[in-house]
Amino acid sequence: MLLRCPACEATHPHDPMLYACPRCGAPLEVGYSEEEMRRATAFEGRGVWRYRPLLPVDRAVTLGEGDTGLHVCERLGRELGIPRLYVKNEGENPTGSFKDRGMTVGIALAAAVGARAVACASTGNTSASMSAYAARAGLKALVLVPADKVAAGKLSQALVHGAVIAEIEGSFDDAMRLVTELAVCERSVYLLNSLNPYRLEGQKTLAFELCETLGEPPEAVVLPVGNAGNISALWKGFREFHSLGRIGRLPRMIGVQAEGAAPIVRALRGHGDLEPVPRPETVATAIRIGAPVNWRKAIAAIRDSEGEAGTVTDREILDAQTLLARLEGLFVEPASAAPIAYLRRRRLEVPGPVVCVATGNGLKDPDAVLGVPVLRERIHPDLAAVRRLIGS
Ligand code: F0G
Repeated sequence: MLLRCPACEATHPHDPMLYACPRCGAPLEVGYSEEEMRRATAFEGRGVWRYRPLLPVDRAVTLGEGDTGLHVCERLGRELGIPRLYVKNEGENPTGSFKDRGMTVGIALAAAVGARAVACASTGNTSASMSAYAARAGLKALVLVPADKVAAGKLSQALVHGAVIAEIEGSFDDAMRLVTELAVCERSVYLLNSLNPYRLEGQKTLAFELCETLGEPPEAVVLPVGNAGNISALWKGFREFHSLGRIGRLPRMIGVQAEGAAPIVRALRGHGDLEPVPRPETVATAIRIGAPVNWRKAIAAIRDSEGEAGTVTDREILDAQTLLARLEGLFVEPASAAPIAYLRRRRLEVPGPVVCVATGNGLKDPDAVLGVPVLRERIHPDLAAVRRLIGS
């Protein structure tokens, strides 16, 4: 096992405490030798740890993550003009988001290197997941979140698991900068943002599961992009399965951002360099990020896969969230509805399987849906009043 820099192509020895390339400063990627890849033949068991031969650590700290539902969505597919539409519901993970796939691996590594505490900056889900897994491993957790911008469900998770919570008077990007500075000067604090390439190894298992459940690779994977770790991790997973000969082709990676927080979309439309969005804003607080640390990897994933990236408005996100809930019975948080909103806007013609990754559970952010119109009225407890309501 080694670390590789996708930006300057330098390689470095395996080191769980190395978060950025010492030569050029870019985020690193875990690499396996040909011998390690050759040995990765048998996958056994369920969930993330089924793929142990392609993970960077042996001993799991687990809550039973992975193996989430891949739901066929025929009714929604007809509405969007996609004949084979699936939703991978990552909200079925133990803490309700895809972050658990990475944390089960990241926390196992933190324990292996003897860290006393783990830390992350977060828009909510990373902090919820890290706090739970830290509790499981007996480690202290420190989370840095933008004050007043984290959904109630997510904050309550960090609270109940006993994390120390720093509410930063600033954005996620400020929190990210601070926690990175902290991890560099406090070596006993292990950084668990997606800057950490070992955590992303756990997240790539989502790609493996998709290929194994479908019996073929998807033709396109559509997912929300914030700090851009997940799209990079999935693309790495597909490439590894391809180089192992388990799949014969690669999917198109389609990244979706909110209109008010779309630095990756802008970079792709411009010269390919990141111009941070100074004051990102969106109802999808999970992806309210202006300076994604993994931007370079995400752009490579989209370009190399002949994919694309685009934006959706807050209104489109909330409408798509309701549509998915009403047509398919799946309640996802706003960020996770962005891919559905994008397919609705874009009307792609893709005959093969299209997978939308629903990254987080809708219960995380109940406030987001309180304005949705329904038949709802306060009434006296008598039958006539109920009948009047249903008759109206
Ligand atoms: N969807 C949800 C529900 C998320 O929580 C996140 C990221 C994303 C999508 C985007 O994933 O960052 O890998 O591109 N949430 C992080 C957090 C930033 O702190 O919970 P990404």
